[in-house]
Formats: sequence, structure tokens, C-alpha cells
Amino acid sequence: MKKSNYYDNIAQIYDQTRWLTEPIADSIADFILDLTSATPETSFLELGVGTGLNVIPLVRRGYPVTGIDISSEMLEQFRQKFNVVPPQLTLIQGDASQLPFPDNSFDVVLTVHMLHTVTDLQVCLDHIDRVLKPGGFYLNCQWITPPARREFEGYFQDILSKHEEIKPNKNLEKPKIDVEAYLQQKGYVSNYLVAQEWTVNNTVEELLSFLQARAYGLCWRVSEEIFAQAINEFQEFCINNYGSLKTILSSEAKFEIWAYRAI
Ligand SMILES: C[S@@+](CC[C@H](N)C(=O)[O-])C[C@H]1O[C@@H](n2cnc3c(N)ncnc32)[C@H](O)[C@@H]1O
Repeated sequence: MKKSNYYDNIAQIYDQTRWLTEPIADSIADFILDLTSATPETSFLELGVGTGLNVIPLVRRGYPVTGIDISSEMLEQFRQKFNVVPPQLTLIQGDASQLPFPDNSFDVVLTVHMLHTVTDLQVCLDHIDRVLKPGGFYLNCQWITPPARREFEGYFQDILSKHEEIKPNKNLEKPKIDVEAYLQQKGYVSNYLVAQEWTVNNTVEELLSFLQARAYGLCWRVSEEIFAQAINEFQEFCINNYGSLKTILSSEAKFEIWAYRAI
């Protein structure tokens, strides 16, 4: 029986379907520590922390890290990365729009590839502003999908779109707000930075297997039956388009940070 939360369903395969490797996460941690002029006492909160890909290097270096996530299974995957969860790491199952922390609790708040998943973005940003200490940093980060993978998923999306049964993308129905303008109006200054660029390689077969495991949101908007038809069609397309399922797709990934600081 499927669980109700999309991320609960994909938690076990989440890490392998992404492209943030441990060495890259380590150098991004260096970048963030430098950017925030962190001291050993600097406290971090990541909303939608998931399996911990971004903050594990901070935890391993002894920084106090709190992670909150709505998915119990994603948090469980995070916990399983340690024999014993270290005392400087606190993991809480909860909603990023209802943060259970007092005002002025954290030096740095992070969101990484997650704001698009929040139902009420404005309320979430209000909470971030509330729990940040004066002079603290909010880092809104994004690791963009490497272009070759985006193109690959686009081809699959085109095949799915031919089927009438496709359900609407709920993200498109959410009220839009301009995060930068909203935070500037609250008194934050912003700075855009690229923390890391690196090359990602995957075989077509590997990317196909991620789709077959329904690892991405676009795979959940059709019934099982339609999905099976679309995957068969797409596999044939891949062989024709890429020549072989063993073909390696290679392109550049980027970890971007929109850094906000209250003045
Ligand atoms: C794309 S994943 C990103 C996970 C992690 N930040 C990373 O970079 O690997 C989005 C995460 O946000 C969590 N999430 C979605 N909506 C949430 C909410 N309202 N409150 C807390 N977590 C949420 C999901 O469960 C998932 O773990």
C-alpha cells in the first residue's frame, strides 16, 4: 500500500536518483561556512532536510544542526547514515510552515531544493524570518538539474503529455510569490552565488531506471497503467534517440545560493 506523502514513497531511492555526491557536499559545506563566517557555535536549521545530503558534512564537523521534514521516511534514511545519531543533530518531523522553535533560534536557515514543495510559501518565509537570529543568514539553495538530464526528462514528459489522463501539476496551482522581493521588503539584502559546479554522468539506462522507480514528481501524475505504457514507449524512443541504453549523458550541475541577511 502506498504512503500518502510522495517523499515517503521514494525515500529509499532518493539519494541514488540525485547528483550531489559526498565530496561535492563537503566542498559546498566549506563554501557555506566561509560565507556565513561560521564559528563552532554557529547553529544551522535546514527545512525539508530530507536524507541529510546537504548538512551531513556540517554534522560530521560538529556544528549544531537541526533538520525538519514532513516525511518520516526521509528522516529515517537520514538517521540510518549514523550508527548512533550524534548529539549535535536534532531531527524533527514537522511542517516548514509551522516551525516549532522560539523566535531568534538559529544563526543560519537553509532550504535546499524545497521551497517549491511548500504549500504556503509566504507563511514559511515568515517563520524563517522569525526563527533567524538578528544578523543571521537565510540561504535559499538550489542544485539545478543538469541539462542532459533535464532534456531526458523533457522527452519523457512529452510522451506523458500525449495521454489525456495526466493530472494537473499541483505546484502550478499554488499562489506565486517573489521570494526575493518579499524578503527585501522585510529588510533583507540578497546576494546570488554559485557554490559549486561539477560534471554529472549517467547512462540512459540508469536514468530510465529512476523513472521506472517513479522517483520524480512527473511520474506520479498518471495512473499505473498509463505510466507503464509511457515507459515502454519512452524506452523505444531512448534507443532510437541515444543509439543505445548504455550511452552516457554528461552535463554540468550547479549548486546555487540566494543568500539573504537581515540588515
Ligand atoms: C526535493 S527534497 C529536498 C531534500 C533535501 N533538502 C535535499 O536537498 O536533498 C524536498 C524535501 O522537502 C520535504 N518537504 C516538502 N514539503 C515540506 C513541508 N511543508 N515541510 C517540511 N518538509 C517538507 C520533503 O519531504 C523532502 O524531503
